[in-house]
Amino acid sequence: MAKLGVGVLGVGEMGKRHAENIRRLVPQARLVAIADVAADRARQVADELEVERSCKGLEELLECKDIDSVLIATPDKFHAEAVQKAAAAGKNILCEKPLATNIADAIAALKAVADAGVRLQIGFMRRYDPPYVAAMKRIEAGEIGEPVIFKSLGRDKDVPPLSAYESGVNGMLFYNNTIHDFDLARWLMRDEVAELQAYTTVAIRPQIAQYGDVVASLVNLKYRGGAIGNVESYVQSIYGYDVRTEIIGSKGSIFVGSLDKMPATFLSSGGGSKVLADHFLSRFYDAYLEEVRDFVDNILHDRPPRVTGEDGLRALEIAVAAENSHLNQEPVPVKTEVMPVARHSVAQGTRS
Ligand SMILES: NC(=O)c1ccc[n+]([C@@H]2O[C@H](COP(=O)([O-])OP(=O)(O)OC[C@H]3O[C@@H](n4cnc5c(N)ncnc54)[C@H](O)[C@@H]3O)[C@@H](O)[C@H]2O)c1
Repeated sequence: MAKLGVGVLGVGEMGKRHAENIRRLVPQARLVAIADVAADRARQVADELEVERSCKGLEELLECKDIDSVLIATPDKFHAEAVQKAAAAGKNILCEKPLATNIADAIAALKAVADAGVRLQIGFMRRYDPPYVAAMKRIEAGEIGEPVIFKSLGRDKDVPPLSAYESGVNGMLFYNNTIHDFDLARWLMRDEVAELQAYTTVAIRPQIAQYGDVVASLVNLKYRGGAIGNVESYVQSIYGYDVRTEIIGSKGSIFVGSLDKMPATFLSSGGGSKVLADHFLSRFYDAYLEEVRDFVDNILHDRPPRVTGEDGLRALEIAVAAENSHLNQEPVPVKTEVMPVARHSVAQGTRS
């Protein structure tokens, strides 16, 4: 079978990992070109990965005829426009989370995807993480009965530098970080969030209030079917990159996490536990690889993506409700938009 020609847009920390995976570990794909608004960075990564072409942006990347698919890993606020342009050029797309940082941009992007009849996958890689996949299988098999409570937390080890907030290119905590848990909240519970209330703080970093961001949040969830949930996010845990999720059901509970069997665990800057990862790139090493393999496989075999544009929109709707609840300090309903409908059958794309 012919290989899938892929171009990667934005090769910072995340895009470079995707590019490395495609170049070295996905034999069904060919990494055709690397693009970054920082042309030197694009050239450097292309040289390192022995990729011939480097481009200074999306327009140049889209001119490469042997590219079927574009992987978008630019900062959050550029995703939706890149999706629109790549779709209009007939490319299949794997877009990092979030799909967009507001609903209007998300709908415009999804409309462009529907109009062009291309495929869009969103980078919710936790759905490919072996422990989460195992948890989902047990839930689907009915082993914990009816899910009643969803609990999830995501703690980054080190707070981003102030310059990251000043640049304004990424969405606030709910869009950039908590959105992974909002996606898990839908996927693992197999239900939609109807209402939520967010509690936030800028403690330890009051300067970031001027950029509309927070350092930590707790979001309480109410599901349509009657279940409840709670999601915690924090940008500076110091002791490690800590992600845990528990679903408590009528017949038992399932926990994805990394704490040892100890009555009390002390976690500090020295790291508290041998099993805790230091960074998302190491914690989710397998997941990033599996998501890109699945994307390539599904396109080559003409199958729809497993994590869809609608998944991107639904998680974004929860993030928007959380931001509104944070701003207005009250519970808010999660509004659901109608998905733009495809006018064509899905395109086959180009193989190289
Ligand atoms: N799925 C995950 O677990 C995960 C983890 C980290 C980051 N991300 C997402 O990946 C995206 C990138 O994050 P990152 O940490 O790699 O950021 P980064 O700042 O390290 O890299 C971004 C890169 O994009 C380039 N860039 C900026 N604007 C561009 C444009 N308009 N066109 C082309 N290139 C452009 C920058 O020069 C830079 O090289 C973000 O949306 C982030 O939310 C996802």
